[in-house]
This record gives sequence, C-alpha cells and structure tokens, in this order.
Amino acid sequence: MRVLLTGGAGYIGSHTAVELLQSGIEVVIADDLSNSSLNAVKRVEAITGKSVVFYLADVSDTAMLRTVFRENRIDAVIHFAGFKAVGESVAKPLKYYRNNLCTTLSLLEVMNENGCGKIVFSSSATVYGDPDTVPLSEDSPVKSGTNPYARTKRMIEQILTDFNAADKGTEVTILRYFNPVGAHPSGMIGENPNGVPNNLMPYITQVAVGKLPKLSIFGSDYPTPDGTCIRDYVHVVDLAKGHMAALNHSAPGVNIYNLGTGKGYSVLEVVDAFERVNGVKIPRVMAPRRAGDVAVCYSSSEKAAAVLGWHAELSMDDMVRDAWNWQIKNPDGYAAE
Ligand code: NAD
Ligand code: WQD
Repeated sequence: MRVLLTGGAGYIGSHTAVELLQSGIEVVIADDLSNSSLNAVKRVEAITGKSVVFYLADVSDTAMLRTVFRENRIDAVIHFAGFKAVGESVAKPLKYYRNNLCTTLSLLEVMNENGCGKIVFSSSATVYGDPDTVPLSEDSPVKSGTNPYARTKRMIEQILTDFNAADKGTEVTILRYFNPVGAHPSGMIGENPNGVPNNLMPYITQVAVGKLPKLSIFGSDYPTPDGTCIRDYVHVVDLAKGHMAALNHSAPGVNIYNLGTGKGYSVLEVVDAFERVNGVKIPRVMAPRRAGDVAVCYSSSEKAAAVLGWHAELSMDDMVRDAWNWQIKNPDGYAAE
C-alpha cells in the first residue's frame, strides 16, 4: 500500500509517517514546508531506516499534484496540509480560507482524475465549539465555529460529504483530533512552532528550557474544580496510530471518529504533571481568560474503539515526559540543523 501524506512534514504528519513506514506502508509526502522543515522528513527516515518520497509542493497546485499521482500509484491519502493557528485565522481569515479550502479542492479533483477514493482528513474537536455537554461524541452538535480556522474544518467536512455523495465508491474518514501533545519517544521528531507558541504544551516546554520566562495561565475562574480549563490531551504517537487504524478499516461512506483519550485534564494538572515527571519548575502566573476558550472539552472515544479498534494507550505522564525529551534534545527545534 502506498499513501500520500499532504502536510506530512508537519507535527502530526511526521509521527504518522513513522507509524506507516514501520507497518510496511510506502509513504509519499507533499509539503510546501510553510510550517515545517525537511529535517523532519530526514529524521523520519532515520527513525525507521526507510525512505520517503518527498515533493516540495503546494497542495493547492493541481499541476504539481498531477505529477505526484502520475509518478506514484497512490492507494489512499491522509490530508494534513493546512494552516492551524486559531488567532492568526482571526487576523488573516482569507489566508486560512484560501489555503485550507484550496488544498482540499485541488486534492479531491486530482484524486478523482486518478480513481483514488480513500481519504482520511485531519479535522478538529474545534468543530464542536462550546459544548452543551461532555463527553463529546461524534453525534454531538457541530457548531458554526468561533473562528475562521474552525469554520474551514467544518466546511471541509461538508465538502468531503458532498464528494462522497457524488461517488458512493469513495471512502471518507474524518478524524476529529482533541489536543495533540508530546513527541516521538526517540526525541528526534516533535512539535516545532514558529515564534512564541500558542498552545499550552510547547509553551510549557519553552518555559522549562528557559526560552520563555513564565507561563500565563489563561483564566482561573472557570466552572471547573480548580478554576482552569479542561482539555483532552492525546499523545501524538497514539494519534498517529489512529491514522493507521483508519487506513486499515475499509468502509464506504463518510465516517467520523473522535481521537482523544476520553479523559480531561485542567491546565494546572498538566503543569503539575510536567513538574513532577520531569523535575523541572514552571514559573507561572494567573492571567485573564483568553478570548474564545471553552471551559471544558473532552471526548468520548468509544466509537473509535468499537469500530477501528483504536484507543489511546499513553498517559499524561508519557505526554509530558516525551514533550520535554524532544525540547531538551532540540532546544531550537529543527532550526539547529
Ligand atoms: P503542522 O503545521 O505541523 O503541519 C501541517 C503541514 O502542512 C506543515 O508541514 C505545513 O508546511 C503543511 N502545509 C500547509 N499548507 C500547505 C500547502 N498549501 N501545501 C503543502 N503543504 C502545506 O500542523 P499539525 O499540528 O501537524 O496539524 C496537521 C493537521 O491537523 C492540520 O490540518 C491541522 O489543522 C489539524 N489539527 C491539528 C491539531 C493540533 O493541535 N496540532 C488539532 C486538530 C487538528
Ligand atoms: C489548552 C489550554 C488555554 C496556552 C487548540 C485549538 C484547537 C486545536 C487544538 C487545531 C487552554 C490554556 C494555553 C498558554 C494557557 N487545534 N493555555 N496558557 O485552545 O484547547 O485548542 O489546539 O485544531 O482548534 O483551538 O489548545 O493548547 O492552546 O490551550 O493557560 O500559554 O491551555 O487557555 O485552556 P486549545 P491550547
């Protein structure tokens, strides 16, 4: 089996490439490196001892995609390529609509031309917006989204549904990730944010390594036991294995799965786990709420377990240990090479 990973040089794509290669699947990556480094691909090859076919390609460029499909018989696609920063999407909505939607449209057109109908798409728990109840199941109401990034994810889910409706032979799998964190246990690949991180775990690791002075905890007056927000953090290696499970499962139609652990942790619980497991102090201050944050968000991952046979195996301790291992081995991310 040969699988095309759009955006495969990125954080989740590189970890998924490792799992696929280790399972004997051939991997083709198309990535424009707009938010990643070729070094991630080289390290995927070093971890696995296997080669990746890499194209420096903008996935919205249909001519380039035609070349990828002409030069490689692609059996399935995992579509990671896109922009993901919520705050930037509010400031630059057109950039997000253009990139996230145009990559998807070009990809589906070229898949159609080549008779490739199996696609796994990186969606997000953000499509649930501010949940009415938790845990969130795949049947929980989907909201229009509080930011342009979230809306692109929802729009792409709808485009994929129409793609499948027009050709019932296609197989669309929509994976709604909760909060991916951690890194490969080798410490060779991990999350490599540009500039100051937006997300909690890379912010903590950059405080721990001394690149940032302190963590601001956004809000301590939420209706949660310790007043800080609760999220469903899932180890990126577990998430990568979820993609393997999705590829191995053959089902026509549009199938949606939450990928989370089913357990929520507060911001303070994550910080405490990081300090306890790694023996490093995280200076922190309580700060005002961040606009757009919801108080509590965690999954029911029962459907993925029942249908795909996938469930998260790694714990919060594994997540904070591996996030720190990646950070200390690569204080400047891939930029050091
Ligand atoms: P990432 O930025 O590390 O990876 C995305 C990759 O896509 C990058 O390598 C980037 O260079 C590439 N890319 C962007 N636009 C492209 C284009 N036009 N052509 C080719 N390549 C392009 O992000 P990630 O965390 O690995 O996320 C992967 C996917 O999962 C994204 O679609 C993201 O929206 C989604 N997702 C991420 C999270 C998260 O918290 N990390 C949560 C839910 C969903
Ligand atoms: C987690 C918690 C913050 C930074 C985002 C996207 C979502 C999805 C996953 C792509 C929140 C708090 C954070 C900090 C803090 N991505 N925090 N200080 O917002 O749950 O989800 O990433 O699809 O769409 O919105 O993740 O890691 O930013 O925040 O206190 O410096 O940590 O307020 O409660 P979030 P996050």
